[in-house]
Order: sequence, then C-alpha cells, then structure tokens
Amino acid sequence: MAEKFTRATFTRNFLKNITRIKAPDDMLAQAKSQGLEKTLGVVDLIMLGVGAIIGSGIFAVVGIAAAGSADGTSLGAGPALTVSMIIAAIACVFSALCYSEFATMIPVAGGAYTYTFATLGEFAAWMVGWVLMLEYAIGFIAVACAWANHLVEFLAGFSNVLPSWLSKPPIWLTNDVFTAATIKANNPDVFIPTFLGVPICINLPAILIVLLITAILVKGTKDSAKLAGIMVFVKLGVIALFVLTGAFYVAPENWTPFAPNGVEGIFAGAFIIFFAYIGFDALATAAEECKNPQKDLPIGILGSLIITTIVYIAVAIVLTGIQNTSGAVPTEFLKAPLAFCMSKIGQNWAAGFISIGALAGLTSVLLVLEMASTRILYAMSRDHFLPSSFQKLSEKTKSPVFLTWTVGILAVVGILTLNLNVAAELCNYGTFTSFIIVCVAVLILRKTDPNRERPFKVPFCPITPMLGIICCGGLMVYKSMQASSSALLFPVWLGVGAIIYLLYGFIKNRNKENELHREFVQNKIKGK
Ligand code: ALA
Repeated sequence: MAEKFTRATFTRNFLKNITRIKAPDDMLAQAKSQGLEKTLGVVDLIMLGVGAIIGSGIFAVVGIAAAGSADGTSLGAGPALTVSMIIAAIACVFSALCYSEFATMIPVAGGAYTYTFATLGEFAAWMVGWVLMLEYAIGFIAVACAWANHLVEFLAGFSNVLPSWLSKPPIWLTNDVFTAATIKANNPDVFIPTFLGVPICINLPAILIVLLITAILVKGTKDSAKLAGIMVFVKLGVIALFVLTGAFYVAPENWTPFAPNGVEGIFAGAFIIFFAYIGFDALATAAEECKNPQKDLPIGILGSLIITTIVYIAVAIVLTGIQNTSGAVPTEFLKAPLAFCMSKIGQNWAAGFISIGALAGLTSVLLVLEMASTRILYAMSRDHFLPSSFQKLSEKTKSPVFLTWTVGILAVVGILTLNLNVAAELCNYGTFTSFIIVCVAVLILRKTDPNRERPFKVPFCPITPMLGIICCGGLMVYKSMQASSSALLFPVWLGVGAIIYLLYGFIKNRNKENELHREFVQNKIKGK
C-alpha cells in the first residue's frame, strides 16, 4: 500500500512538474532585471529580418523549385513558380501573425521556446527549445556549408588570375566527408587522405566563416545588425541587377505552358521554396533587445516577409522568362540559377556580381541564425535547463560571449561530422514544428489568459492560427511521406532531447526549486 502511495505521489508530482507553466509576468520581470541590452529599432529589425530570410533559397534552391530536381524526385512548378511562392508566403504569414502577437505581448528572449513555457509547460518548452536548435543551429551548419560551396564556385571563376590551389582547392578541404565520398564514387581519381582507413575531410571555408561570424556576434548585437544591414544592401542590389538586366532578355514564350506539372508541381515548388522564407521568426528571439517591441516587432516581422515576397516574385518572373523550365534544364541552372541566366544572356559580368550577392546573402543569414541560437539557449539557461555559465554577459557589449563561442565551436564539430543535405532537411522539420507550436500557443493563451494586454492581435482568431497549423502540418506530413534520412532522424532528435531533459533539466529545475524554498524558509525564520 505504502509503495502504491509513493508511486502515485511521485507520478502526480512528476506530472505537475513537467507541466509547470512560467507566468508571462514572471518572464517580463526577469527580463527587466537581468536582460540583454535594448539596441534594436524598427529599421534594424527589418534589416535583420530581410538579412535572415534572403539567402540560398533564392540564389540556389529556386532552380529546383522551378524546374524540379535532377533525380526527378521533386517536380518543378515551371513559370507557376510565382504561385508556389505566394502559397509558401501565405503559409508563413499565418505563423508570422501569431509570432507578432506573442512577441509584442511577451517581449523577452527565446521566441517560440518562451511562448511554449507560458502555455504548455516545462517539458514542452524544453522540447521546443531543443527542436528550435534544429532550425537555427543545424540550419546554421547547413547554410555555412552552402556558403562554402558558393565561395568555391566564385573563386573558380577567377582561374585565370588566382593560383590553382585557390581557384581549384582540394575536394577534401572544401567538403564534408559524405559529399566528398559521393564525388570520389563518381571520379575515383579524386585524392582524399585517410588516417587508419578513415577518410579525412575538413570543410575549411565553412569552418572559417563560422568562426568569423561568431567573432562578429561576440562584439555585440548592434554591430551584428549593422553588418547584416550592409549585407542586405549588397544582396538586394544584386537581385535588382538581375531583375533589371534580365527583364530585357525575357522571352514570353518561355512562360507557356504556365504550370507544366499542374497543381502537383505547384505544391512541390511551394514546399521547396518554403526554405527561402525561413528566418523571419528569428526576429522574435531578439524581442528582448528591441527598444520598442510592441510597435516595432510586428512591422519588422511582417514587413520583412512582405519585402521578401515581392523580391522573390520579381525574380521568379524574370528567371522563368529567361530559362524555359517546362522540360530538362542544364545542371548549372539547378546549382546557381540566377548566375546561369546571366551567363546565358551573355552578361557574364553580372554573373560574377550575383556570386558576390549570394555570398553576402548567406553571410547575413548566418549572422541571424547564430544569434537566434544563442538567444534561445540564453533563455533556456535562465530557466535552469542548461548550465548557468551560458548567461554570463560581456561587461562591455552585454552579449553572451561564452555561450556564443560554445555555439560556434559546436557548429564546427557539426560541419566536420554532418551530411549537408540531411542538415538542411532537419532544419525544415525544426521550422515547421516551431511554427505549429506558436499557432497552438496563441490559441491556448487566448483561452487561459484572455484579458492580458495584446498590443498586436492576430486577426480572425481562431481561424488564422488554425490555417497556420494546417499549412505547416500539411507540408511536414508531405515531407515525412517521402522516406528520407531526416524523416528518421527527426524522432531520434526528439528522443535524445527527452533523455537530456530527464537526466539534466528536470533535476536542475527541482534542485533550484528546493534551493529557493530553503532560502524562503530561512528568511522567514530570520523574520525577513
Ligand atoms: N531563408 C534562408 C535562406 O534562404 C534560410 O537561406
């Protein structure tokens, strides 16, 4: 009987602990007393937003969205790519509205992680934080590898001027071990050194850019936002160059048939191009650093999404007008579609500028992804899920220096061990999950705390969050139906997260509660 009682009590306490909710007022008070420096205005936010969104999606992935993948596993949308882009943008807008409601109501660091703690409790919050690491930290690794690919392509264009070790660097110094193995399988003459039979591959450009971005972030958020701003101008300038130059070479017959693969092609294109919109949600993670979050955050989140959609549609119209995407396309178009189109119309000088724009674009995406990773981990450390050393801020810049370097070093380890394609797909899983959770969290908090002041309200609630859940859930199910390594790795990632919580976060939180309780009792005894 006694044993039964103990078990029942344990189970009750356990359930109570893992569903413990952190009140939004406590979060606001904590952020006020120990928070990060408030430096970001509305222009900084739009710059960070556009900086986070426009990257390899529009400079590389757009080719596959338009013409389909080379192995035929994904259909292309053809000229109807514009429709695919609008569908992907609409799916993002539902979630962006929900992010805006939360970010203005609880403007503290952590984004979706924080909102989950306020609505679904301790365990769900940890799991969302853990899943967000897929979007931001694993995404950071994937984009760093894409950056390295663009750099190698860019340098190859200068083979007449540069020494050959720079214009044609060794495969084993510019690829992950999986990609290098595929290259070697197709071309056995490629040299890859081995140590005790294990191939040695170091993606040096990716590692160097990760270390550089980490060093910049350590200097503080304001400097990082300034740099992201410069990169945004470079990439927008290059995209404008593409649209304005390319517009004169558009052949309208390339726009027919409009949707060569019908509705299926349009949706396949929407799924792929969704990647190009990832990033606006990162703004919510920096809410604590906004000077005027209530007004500026919705403008920053929705504004950057609108600017990006307009830019993307203009690119899609010109791109599909220059290259016929109804049938087979050259491989170069799938790798670097914008630069390929410029070469095709004889504007090789513009192709070179486009490579610079792609590098600038990816650099700003990297800045925001690493910043978002550190802000979520910072919030998780503040909630006793992670070591408290992660909360240490630099005296001078008020940025979490130790945490930022930890993320940078872990990213380097990821670059050395991860497969780039799997990393990019896992990033999509993390994003869909966080978007769905934020939509669910808005619905819950509207019920549990209806009177809380909401400076920005999602219009047509509950329809809008529900549409967000359906769109993102549908895309995730679509992806899971195609058996891939990422579809298997995602549940593994969730399982590892749950084990870490039980062995570390859960225990640390209970110890903290006991410590606070002891302090409370001692103060009472002392009559304080
Ligand atoms: N949206 C980001 C990109 O396209 C992730 O690179």
